Amino acid sequence: MPDKPSYLGLLNAIAVAEARAHEYLTAWIEVTPSSDVCAVLRTVAAREGEHGMAFAKRVDELGFQVRVKEDPEHARRMEIARSDRSDLEKMKAFGLHKVDTGNKPDVFDDFFKDHSIDIWTGELLGRYIAEERDTARLLRGCYQQLKAAAGGDASAAADDRLDAIESKIDAVCRAVDELRQIVCAQSMPTATS
Ligand SMILES: [Fe+2]
Repeated sequence: MPDKPSYLGLLNAIAVAEARAHEYLTAWIEVTPSSDVCAVLRTVAAREGEHGMAFAKRVDELGFQVRVKEDPEHARRMEIARSDRSDLEKMKAFGLHKVDTGNKPDVFDDFFKDHSIDIWTGELLGRYIAEERDTARLLRGCYQQLKAAAGGDASAAADDRLDAIESKIDAVCRAVDELRQIVCAQSMPTATS
C-alpha cells in the first residue's frame, strides 16, 4: 500500500459530496417546471458529476479507494429534490441562496495550505475550486431571479429585510472596529512622553 497522502481525506470528501450533489440536482432537473432553472441545474449537475468522478479517479490513481459513509441528509435532499415544492423553496432548503459568490474568503481558501499536494492533484483542485466559485455565482443569479419573480411574496420581502439588516450590522461592526483602533492609537504613549 502506498504512503497515504495527507490530503487523501479531502479528495475522498469531495468525491462523495460532488457525486451526491449530482444525484439530487439530476432529480430536481426532472421535475422543475422552469426551463431557465433547468438550464442552470444542468450546467451545475454536469460539473458536480464530473467532479465526483474525477476525484474518485484521482483517489484511485494514488492507490486508494473512495469510502462512502451513510448520510441521512442525502436521503432528505433527494426527497426534497423530487418533491413538488417550488424551485425557490428548494433553493432555500438546499442552502443555495446563501452560497458564497466568490468575493469573500471561503472554504476553498485553505485547500492549498497543505504544501505537500502533488502537481496533478493541485491542477485538479485548482480547476475544481474555480468551477465551484463560478457555480456559486450561477446559483446566486438563479435564486435572485426566482426571488424577483416571486415579487410580492411575503417571505421574499422578509429575506430582503434580513439582507438589509445584515449589511447594516456589518457597517456598525466596521465602525466600532475603526473607533476601537482610534482609541487604542490615542491611548498609546508616544516616544517623547
Ligand atoms: Fe460542488
